[in-house]
Amino acid sequence: MTVTSDITVLQAIRQAGAEVLSSCEQGICGTCLTPVLEGTPDHRDSVLTDHERSAGNCLVPCVSRSCCDRLVLDL
Ligand code: FES
Repeated sequence: MTVTSDITVLQAIRQAGAEVLSSCEQGICGTCLTPVLEGTPDHRDSVLTDHERSAGNCLVPCVSRSCCDRLVLDL
């Protein structure tokens, strides 16, 4: 699905009819942590370490977005 720049990844997931467990929805608890299979996340959370951010294989979708045109998640 096409995702506009004004919504979070979690909002896009919900618009697509899927769901991810969430709690704070402010990027601080880590409940919604989701594996990334393809693409580069735009990390906007306070959960991941610098190492996890640079690895790019997971993201916190309640606040994060995408740096690229295609982001594939393991839901
Ligand atoms: Fe808490 Fe996403 S729901 S970090």
